[in-house]
Amino acid sequence: MPTVYVTRRAHFNAAHRLHNPAKSDEWNVLTFGKCNSPNWHGHNYQIEVTVEGKPNPETGYVVDLGALHRIIDTYILEKCDHKNLNLDVDFLQGIIPSSENLVIAFWNQIAPHIHEGKLVSIKLFETARNVVEYRGNE
Ligand code: NI
Repeated sequence: MPTVYVTRRAHFNAAHRLHNPAKSDEWNVLTFGKCNSPNWHGHNYQIEVTVEGKPNPETGYVVDLGALHRIIDTYILEKCDHKNLNLDVDFLQGIIPSSENLVIAFWNQIAPHIHEGKLVSIKLFETARNVVEYRGNE
């Protein structure tokens, strides 16, 4: 049976600030520029979660997309949508909320809950032009 990749796309809006508290204010401004703005800034994030598998002969599905949506909603969107990623999100405490760090944290949030198909990729679009992808590799 051929392998198929199935992707669920979702959106959330959130505020954040890139700031490393271990470094000086000057270092932070030089490194992060406008993204270090003390009173936060926002993004309209898009996330794409891709699962790999072979279609179940009884359903034709690799994964029930409704079930995948509920996992993304429960473990990512409910916690992050309309929130401040630096302050409000339990699983992001102590993490600089760059897209790179976010996509790894999102993987760790949902991977234990995906039992149909195999999680193979999460892409996070911070803007239409800036996209990061994590495939679960160390
Ligand atoms: Ni930003």
